[in-house]
Amino acid sequence: MTQATYNELYDLSLSNPEKFWGDAAKAIDWITPPKTILDDSKKPLYRWFSDGVLNTCYNALDRHVEQGNGERLALIYDSPVTSVVKKYTYTELRDEVAKFAGALRANGVNKGDRVLVYMPMIPEAVITMLACSRIGAIHSVVFGGFASKELATRIDDAKPVMIVSASCGIEGKRVVHYKPLLDEAIELSTNKPSKCIIYQRPQEIASLVEGRDVDWVTAVAAAEPAECVPVAATDPLYILYTSGTTGIPKGVVRDNGGHAVALKWSMEYIYNVKPGEVFWAASDVGWVVGHSYIVYAPLLHGCTTVVFEGKPVGTPDPGAFWRMISEHNIKVLFTAPTAFRAIKKEDPNGEFIKKYDLSKFYALFFAGERCDPDTLFWAQDKLNVPVIDHWWQTETGWAIAANCLGIEQLPIKAGSPTRAVPGYDVQCLNENGQPIKDDDIGSIVIKLPMPPGTLPTLWNNDERYISSYLSAYDGYYLTGDAGYIDKGGYIWIMSRIDDIINVAGHRLSTGGMEEVLASHPDVAECAVIGAADQLKGEIPLGLIVLKAGVTRSDKEIVDEVVALVRDKIGPVAAFKVAAVVKRLPKTRSGKILRSTMKKIADGQEYKTPATIDDPIILEEITEVLEKLGYNQHLTA
Ligand code: COA
Ligand code: AMP
Repeated sequence: MTQATYNELYDLSLSNPEKFWGDAAKAIDWITPPKTILDDSKKPLYRWFSDGVLNTCYNALDRHVEQGNGERLALIYDSPVTSVVKKYTYTELRDEVAKFAGALRANGVNKGDRVLVYMPMIPEAVITMLACSRIGAIHSVVFGGFASKELATRIDDAKPVMIVSASCGIEGKRVVHYKPLLDEAIELSTNKPSKCIIYQRPQEIASLVEGRDVDWVTAVAAAEPAECVPVAATDPLYILYTSGTTGIPKGVVRDNGGHAVALKWSMEYIYNVKPGEVFWAASDVGWVVGHSYIVYAPLLHGCTTVVFEGKPVGTPDPGAFWRMISEHNIKVLFTAPTAFRAIKKEDPNGEFIKKYDLSKFYALFFAGERCDPDTLFWAQDKLNVPVIDHWWQTETGWAIAANCLGIEQLPIKAGSPTRAVPGYDVQCLNENGQPIKDDDIGSIVIKLPMPPGTLPTLWNNDERYISSYLSAYDGYYLTGDAGYIDKGGYIWIMSRIDDIINVAGHRLSTGGMEEVLASHPDVAECAVIGAADQLKGEIPLGLIVLKAGVTRSDKEIVDEVVALVRDKIGPVAAFKVAAVVKRLPKTRSGKILRSTMKKIADGQEYKTPATIDDPIILEEITEVLEKLGYNQHLTA
């Protein structure tokens, strides 16, 4: 823990960001150390360490080996679904990565090229990402729960020269056939990659397309290890697509230099872990949490990271997390509250916790969605360690607000992710851009410049970056979250200002789902809302109006639209409930009243909007939602 207080460090980070981040940058090995710390010559687009040169993979692997820590564990793979546990030392992981980087290069991947990664939670996913960064290629990982069409959209935007995938993933007991999904995505895309490297898992051997697909083992056997390639601090390390307000996802870009500096800093100051300790983010490499805290941050800091191919429950029981913590000496666990709600549901009294020795466990961090106080209290009570809710998003890449255990632990207020992390000037503004004080809800924004590690732009799209994030309030980044900041400076994130919903910690666009529903030939119009769900936080709920003259049964059409969303977006959308309604409630100007419908679904009080076209429709909608089991509070 540092000697400085939170207030001292926070104030310094805002009053003299160049000193603050210039000092933090010394913890990274640079090929050319940066002289320019913050480059604001292209405001509002800021760049950190713009004349610095480094290699992220070198900092994550090679330098630990060179410092004599090659025998330290870098990665533990624990897969209850295949009963495999495999461990890699830093030397072993560096060698595997160097060899795979050589295989990428031998198959045509060069510095600046994009490599799309579509893989389950196996070490080869981490190896691929690090291998890309080793040779200066830009990876773009797509979460395995997305279907072919989503994959194709990302292929067309990133234009990868290569895709790395695996024959299959394992979701509990279900085998996910990755290869056919990949083949279909390539078929659908216009920018077809010239090569694919496929990791064949023993559970399923995929058929390879001649001339395009190369078997992982064969590719590696034929390759020479590749050395680390110098890249500019501002060169992209990766693109990660995240839901926007339409079906077209946003390609969040991460640079090399700012990212390495910020993540290394965060390990010490936010999570309070030391090199050599075991850090586990129970997430997926397809999400930002996986990028930052399964792959890069723990390795940049010389920790041991964990790749877990399992679920909080069912693999095989709700004791999975506790087994992991005790077997692998895990100091810090980072996961989404939904995972704990799943555990709590199956083991409310924490009987499984008692079976394991958790004496080395130091702290639990939650993110991905608002942590409801019940879950926080349950975890505190059962685990007896600090339970820290922290708030961030794909765009920032690391926490915006947290209780920074490496600085000093501030009092915990359940429901708040505590205060802004050093580097982030978080404010709450009203519609006119005026600061809101004390407990009034407004738009949560971050004053520019944001700290290193946050997105410099969207892939090939500065304009969309500026229009989506920087235009609402001059000089501020729009987080898209609404909430308030209380008198003590604690931040409360309450909801989104757009159509994004949060399902089991996964960020999804209802607009994207509406596009799919609207593509059904019998659907005239539709709305998707995020209804409150005890386990997943929110789940999507579709309301559809049929075209005149459609005579098929409602059930048939509902089943089809449910299947269509699974097919077009993927199982991760968790779209399982839809209903046919006669009409949708709208304002007189034709805007669908989604938030009013959400309130009805959640059983909350609502005011009939003065601008409503026909109030009777709300009664019709209420009746339909009640038949589906919603609006519980009002009917109870
Ligand atoms: N590949 C293919 N399919 C996937 C997948 C993947 N990588 N991840 C999830 N899916 C599928 C699931 O199998 C499920 O399919 P189903 O409809 O056939 O059951 C569907 O997508 C929805 O998945 P999910 O919402 O995750 O629900 P779940 O019932 O499988 O599990 C939890 C519920 C709470 C246990 C699970 O969501 C969880 O562990 N969440 C943690 C969230 C997290 O890690 N968030 C990242 C930010 S920290
Ligand atoms: P993602 O980009 O997928 O990480 O999702 C980011 C969004 O999830 C944020 O903009 C918030 O809406 C929500 N979120 C993440 N963490 C928290 C948290 N600790 N509290 C409240 N909301 C959160």
